[in-house]
Amino acid sequence: MGGMGKMYKVAVVGCGRIASILEDDPLREKPATHAGAFAAHPMTKMVAACDINVQRLEKFGAKWRIPSPYLYRDYREMLRHAKPDILSVATWTDSHCDIVLEAARTPSIKGIYCEKPIASSLAQADKMIAACEKKGIPLVVGHERRFDANFVMVRRMIEKKSLGELKTVFAQALSLPVPALPRSKYVGGTFLHDGTHMIDLVLYSGGPAKWVMGYDKRPYGKRNIETTAGGIIMLENGVTVFVEGGGEREYFKFDLDLQFTGGRILIGNSGIHTFTGGASKHYTGFRELFPIPFPAPKKRVNSLVGGVTELVRAICSGKEPASSGRDARNALRLIMATYESASGGGKKIQIKDRRGKK
Ligand SMILES: NC(=O)c1ccc[n+]([C@@H]2O[C@H](COP(=O)([O-])OP(=O)(O)OC[C@H]3O[C@@H](n4cnc5c(N)ncnc54)[C@H](O)[C@@H]3O)[C@@H](O)[C@H]2O)c1
Repeated sequence: MGGMGKMYKVAVVGCGRIASILEDDPLREKPATHAGAFAAHPMTKMVAACDINVQRLEKFGAKWRIPSPYLYRDYREMLRHAKPDILSVATWTDSHCDIVLEAARTPSIKGIYCEKPIASSLAQADKMIAACEKKGIPLVVGHERRFDANFVMVRRMIEKKSLGELKTVFAQALSLPVPALPRSKYVGGTFLHDGTHMIDLVLYSGGPAKWVMGYDKRPYGKRNIETTAGGIIMLENGVTVFVEGGGEREYFKFDLDLQFTGGRILIGNSGIHTFTGGASKHYTGFRELFPIPFPAPKKRVNSLVGGVTELVRAICSGKEPASSGRDARNALRLIMATYESASGGGKKIQIKDRRGKK
């Protein structure tokens, strides 16, 4: 498999924001969508698309030049008829499980790229992972910051102890106020939907979690999603993580503040700021933190294209991909445990992360 000239046929289900529409945002780094990333990758070609919303489907078809016989309203029909090698799942979270299970049953499918959060429940996530592993189909989940060279560099700095031992992490995914939405449909608010990127990065950089103690704010009642949730997470290596999602701000803020024995890295949409210890200018015999340049990675790859590259690599090698279903399941587990802890008044919930197959 693989080799020069090999082209994987891609079908996209869900023709919304992350599949295509965000490509029209003039401010975003491009590609900003699944379609953009598959179009940019030299070994993938989009051959089919599906959406229950006909207008969106037709727009997608016109933009990405997919002939109308290959535009579907039913993903089952698309899988059977278009026989794609790769399925890209960019529908609402509660449909990810059924779609991935159907794809895993489809003989032509060699790999799946599924949006985050992996699913609405751990039971669904487990079914998806088991079905893909049984068929040897790599499943990459769209926590695409794992493919961002800056976050890869931060992880390398943690491993190399460039700034000493990682001790404490502050992680916030803050957002606009949310309306009252039923938990039965949406499962969670910002803590789940943006927070899954944050929690995934915490696990990616800091390693597996040991326990969590959570809190939540539910002004619309327990049956509705939270306006804010967060908690204290203890990682297995003793790193302490303070995390918060929501916060009802007038701005979006997605930042990780990683504090080491000898320095600090702030990374997120407030930029990247690195600090290291030096002699204090104010107190004799004390040390303080001073800014130093971030060791910018030489090669910058677009994160969405990075996700596609990882999926293609996993199809060719048969090895578990980075940002796998198991990784995403660990993030979902930690989020669900935080909600569970919060509903139990902040009680400590022990976590057992599933390790990847070696
Ligand atoms: N990685 C990221 O940064 C990122 C950003 C945005 C959204 N997302 C995730 O992507 C997913 C989609 O979010 P979005 O913002 O693009 O939503 P969206 O509403 O813009 O698009 C989803 C599309 O899926 C279609 N759809 C839903 N169920 C379907 C089905 N059964 N068959 C065919 N089409 C179906 C809808 O009609 C809609 O057009 C969510 O899981 C979300 O969490 C990820």
